[in-house]
Order: sequence, then structure tokens, then C-alpha cells
Amino acid sequence: MKILGVETSCDETSAAVIDGNQVLANVISSQEIHNQFGGVVPELASRAHIRLIIPIVEKALEQADLTLDGIDGFAVTYGPGLVGALLVGLNFVKGLALATDKPFVGVNHMEGHIYGNILSQEQIQFPIVFLIVSGGHTQLVLMEDHLKYRIIGQTRDDAVGEAFDKGAKLLGLGYPGGPLIDRLAREGDDSYYRFPRAMLKDNPFDFSYSGLKTALLVFLQKLSEKEKEEHLKDICASYQKAAVEPLIIKTINAAKEFGARQVAIAGGVAANSLLRTWLKQACDENGFAFYLPEFAYCTDNAAMIARAGLEYLRRGQKSPLTLNAYPALKLAGKIGATQ
Ligand code: KG4
Ligand code: ZN
Repeated sequence: MKILGVETSCDETSAAVIDGNQVLANVISSQEIHNQFGGVVPELASRAHIRLIIPIVEKALEQADLTLDGIDGFAVTYGPGLVGALLVGLNFVKGLALATDKPFVGVNHMEGHIYGNILSQEQIQFPIVFLIVSGGHTQLVLMEDHLKYRIIGQTRDDAVGEAFDKGAKLLGLGYPGGPLIDRLAREGDDSYYRFPRAMLKDNPFDFSYSGLKTALLVFLQKLSEKEKEEHLKDICASYQKAAVEPLIIKTINAAKEFGARQVAIAGGVAANSLLRTWLKQACDENGFAFYLPEFAYCTDNAAMIARAGLEYLRRGQKSPLTLNAYPALKLAGKIGATQ
């Protein structure tokens, strides 16, 4: 089954063509315009998606050496995300489905991230605990089968990607902050300062990251400019360690608690080098299989959306043309995704 996938939930305009588990094209255009504002400006994102959607889809088809005739169905992100941005991709795909008389399915962006991992690792087994970590989400999800998600823990405030981005902003680095902190932290001393970790005793699988960002702010206020400059890499390493440690502890505990012998990560922060190596080590120590997504499928891309869509479409599940965009779409208890 050849699926054309489209992703426009935030600031990446992406189109991909997959044939089963094989990626024939995965074209991603990251909107540079937001860098000067230190974060995504929703209206500018929508406008850029409108400009880019046709050339990006055309490029994906060209790279896959196909025309729309060779496509069996379409998949598109319909939430969560920025409503104006989501609507561009969703309406475009509805138009394609209508014009070609082929099925389309709406995909939850977070399930897309999960299938970005499955795309890299076809041998995945269930039950599996997925740690989903992105700019907007930090969730522990138990999957007992394809397309079946149970949320066992999530952040109560900021997402871990947000902690990286806001931390980087406080440190005077650019946007997005995650990759920048990751790079600087590699040469830093992570024992330079101990930032707090919120472990939340009432639900041991929930997360909290707003305190970490505030702790960094307070800590930086006490440092001179010279100290900040001299110890930038040490601060990055200490901050990154405090952000990653709860993810490791809670993911391993969740796998133990729910009897899953498989662990996987997904989402933009899954590209973080400390998270990747530390969680791999913790899984090895506990005898769990660990599934790492390829770097290319960690941050937002349409191949992951197409791969999730394939699971619906191969079961004959498609969306109606009345499907709307849902900015706050939840992973479990999805609204109107399929008919
Ligand atoms: O999944 P994604 O591309 O978009 C969302 O759906 O949010 O994730 C983007 C997030 C940003 O917060 C970015 O800073 C973070 O992923 N990120 C990283 C790394 N690469 C991307 N965070 C830590 N270390 C990285 N290497
Ligand atoms: Zn994402």
C-alpha cells in the first residue's frame, strides 16, 4: 500500500510517500522565519504552510517517482497542534482525497511520533512502554497492540522539549534550544550544579518541568556574566541531566509496573544524545528491549504520519470529509478519527 502523508501541525511543512515500511520520499521544510522571534508565531506558520504545501507534496511525489495515480490513500495530522497550521494540511489532503476518489485518514500527531519509531523498527513487540517527548508533550504511553494507547503518565505543566527551549533562551542560545544544549552539554561537567528533579509521589509516572526552568532562572541571576560564559557548557550539562533523569527513572519503573519488556522513545527530544545513551543502558541493565527511532524520524516529519495512517487504512478505517482539526487532540479517546 502506497500512502502519501502530510504534516503541518507546527512549523514544519512535510510530505512523504511510503510503500509499507519503506520510505520512498520524506520532504521536510523547516520554517526559518520563526528563529528571529525565539519561538513559533502561529499566523506566520499558517501562511508559510499555504505557500509551501503544493511544492513540498509535488517534490515528495517526484522523489518517489510516482503521480497521484500510484497512491492508494492519504494520511494527515489533524491534531494536536496550531489550528491554523493543521487546517492547511488537513484541507489540502481532503481536496486530494476528493479529487482522486481515494481514502484519507486523520492521524494524531503523537501517534505519528510513535509510528516514526515503528518505521525504524518493524520488529516491535507488544506490550511496549513508549516515552513520548517533544516540544509540546511529555507522556508515558502503554501500547498493548497497534493503534491501542493507554496514557499512564504525563507532564502537569511544561513539556521537556519546552524546558530545553526555554532553558536555552535563558542562556542566550538560539531556538530550538534542545539540540544546542545537547551539543554544548557534551563537553560540560554535569555535576557543576544540582538542579531540582520533580518526582511527584501521588502519581509516580507524571512529570513536571516548570520548576526546572525557574531554578535555572534563579541560578543564573546569582552568576556574574563572566561565570555564565566560563561555565556555559557545565550549566548545559547539569540542566540537561536534571531534565533527562526523571524520564529514565519513570520509564523504567513504568515498564516494570505494567509488565512490558519493551521500551521505546519518540518525539523531537528522542534525538537527545544523553537520553538515548542513558535509557539504552538502563534498559540493558533491566533486560528490556529498547527501540530507538532513527534521527530523521524523531522530529516532525510526514513519513511517521504516513506510517501511522497505513495501520488505519490497511484495516479499512478511513476518516470522513467532515473531519475537523483538533488543536488539543488527546491520544487516548480520539475524537472522530475514523469511521
Ligand atoms: O517533535 P518535535 O519536532 O515537535 C513537536 O511536536 O514539539 O519536537 C521539537 C522539540 C523541541 O523542543 C526541540 O528543542 C527538541 O524537540 N529537541 C531536542 C533535541 N532535538 C530536538 N531536545 C533535546 N535534545 C535534542 N538533541
Ligand atoms: Zn512533534
